[in-house]
Amino acid sequence: MSNFKIGKSGKKIFRIKNILFKEKSENNDLVIKILNFLNDKKCVYVPKIILQDTEYYQLTYIKGKTIKKFKHLSKSRIKHLAFILKSYYEITKEILTEYEIQNNIGFCHGDINPHNLVFYKNKIKAIIDWDGIYKGNIKNDIYFAIWTCANLGSTKISNKKKQKLIFTFINSYNDPNIFINFCDQMILIMRDYANNHKNSEQIQKWSVDSINWIQKNKKEINKKIG
Ligand SMILES: Nc1ncnc2c1ncn2[C@@H]1O[C@H](COP(=O)(O)OP(=O)(O)O)[C@@H](O)[C@H]1O
Ligand SMILES: [Mg+2]
Repeated sequence: MSNFKIGKSGKKIFRIKNILFKEKSENNDLVIKILNFLNDKKCVYVPKIILQDTEYYQLTYIKGKTIKKFKHLSKSRIKHLAFILKSYYEITKEILTEYEIQNNIGFCHGDINPHNLVFYKNKIKAIIDWDGIYKGNIKNDIYFAIWTCANLGSTKISNKKKQKLIFTFINSYNDPNIFINFCDQMILIMRDYANNHKNSEQIQKWSVDSINWIQKNKKEINKKIG
């Protein structure tokens, strides 16, 4: 029990064999509800909750690769992520109202980024770290996933490459309604995120670089998305 580490969120986390112990979050009721629901529906891309006590969740430890240094996803992985997210929002519609569904409201993971994915070869094995889950507009979740997984704030990846990753995700997700006014909506989400992370210089820089990139590439992206 003493051999724990502290995750990015500041939560204690440790592993014993195939079980991952993680300190519970404030919204643990929703985390448990959704993970249990997804597992009942045979969704294989999320950890299972094995047990919970007052302080910790016990989750299945998912074997595969996680990244240490932030890096964009490959084309095949981003394609797979789009597929997984589409089916995730589809499955969870069962526990939403008609009004919510019509208005793109769903259960947002809240932090879909390369650090919260477990990889296996060219695929994604699981989406982890569900502590930030909330009910809200799923566009926020989807756009944030594209932003982080194509690393639009990187100054090292070529324009063509980032664009390709965006289009790969959008084509694979295959729901044009979600991507209406893509660039303008993306900028709003980026600004919002920057505003909510004012104490992190790194996030501020990354957000500004991301917004600049979208603005510079807006014409080309819009032409392709239509
Ligand atoms: N169920 C899991 N299976 C495999 N690895 C996991 C699992 N949960 C967490 N991890 C590993 O622990 C790290 C931190 O866990 P995470 O839930 O993302 O915590 P934090 O909230 O601190 O980001 C992850 O990046 C991953 O490497
Ligand atoms: Mg995490």
